[in-house]
Amino acid sequence: MNDALRTAFAAVHGGRPEGIWAAPGRVNLIGEHTDYNDGFALPVALAQTTRLAARRRTDGRLRLHSAQAGGPVVDLAVADLAPGAVTTWAAYPAGVVWALGEAGHRTGGADLHFDSTVPTGAGLSSSAALECAVARAYDDLYGLGLGPPALARIAQRAENAFAGVPCGVMDQMASSCCVAGAALHLDVRAGSHEHVPFDPEAAGLRLLVIDTRVTHDLGDGAYAALRTGCERACALLGLAALRDLSPEHLPRAERLLPARLRPLVRHVVTENARVAEAVAHLKAGRVAELGPILNSAHASLRDDYRVSCPETDLAVDSAVAAGALGARITGGGFGGSVIALVAADRAERMGAAVTAAFRGAGYREPHLIAVTAAPGARRIE
Ligand code: GLA
Repeated sequence: MNDALRTAFAAVHGGRPEGIWAAPGRVNLIGEHTDYNDGFALPVALAQTTRLAARRRTDGRLRLHSAQAGGPVVDLAVADLAPGAVTTWAAYPAGVVWALGEAGHRTGGADLHFDSTVPTGAGLSSSAALECAVARAYDDLYGLGLGPPALARIAQRAENAFAGVPCGVMDQMASSCCVAGAALHLDVRAGSHEHVPFDPEAAGLRLLVIDTRVTHDLGDGAYAALRTGCERACALLGLAALRDLSPEHLPRAERLLPARLRPLVRHVVTENARVAEAVAHLKAGRVAELGPILNSAHASLRDDYRVSCPETDLAVDSAVAAGALGARITGGGFGGSVIALVAADRAERMGAAVTAAFRGAGYREPHLIAVTAAPGARRIE
């Protein structure tokens, strides 16, 4: 596989790369729309990765090419990189080089060629995979010594300020910091993380991603509006972040808020509690107990946070009807993917039932991906 990447690098840039790096996409087990509320999340890195063949340049040019995007090489001067200057896919990798410079790190140009197996537009963080691959490659090539959490923050800065996407830090932390066989328990305010063993196979279970292959256009603006709603609720409640509201104080807080903000706050507070519950179950080896937690998270995302859509609801409902222990929409929402936890011997039947339900509804056929908890960004050659 890496030979093909080297051949493609040679065809695009000439010569040989100095090395090959890989960074994964992610699914989030639980803890959705909590990261920008200073809260908790529990993502898992996927085996699907963006691979990057890279070589430093001494002339300050950043030359980018992707097997998926195709087209000519995107040729940029590192010194000219500025937010808004790049508007295509290249904004994600170029943004990382810009963010490193903004943070005071001395780097330079590079020839980069990407090839990815992370589905795009599926809510599986293909953009974080691109960013984290570049961050990791630059860390190695330019000897920055930053390490995974700092690289994740650089990647988030690239996405927020350079590509203009107001995301939290979960996706970049997952792509950068995960280790094989574990989910990443994030405490965003503390800036800390813990690896929690996650091995559904050992418990006779499967975690499946159901990529519904729909993205609804309202996604970007709607995500920003949800963030603003949470900030407004904090201002009204006199809190630094919704992380500071405990479930016992929720009823009182709801009485103080206008009706439109109550469900947002309810989701974030109950979702943070669900992360704690899920982590306790995983640490005790009770993987199947995640099922009911996934179901309540989906109800909360559908009814309170309102980020589901007919396709993701059908994926959840048909998975549960076919025997899944639990299922929910994962990622930012408004389409994208659903995760379903199911007994290994029922997984195939469940997948077939979901596919049949989609066909019956006249939707595109969903893509099914089995999740094994994979490692974060790394050098592979
Ligand atoms: C997107 C963002 C993340 C996070 C999720 C929702 O994936 O990039 O930072 O906010 O949505 O949990």
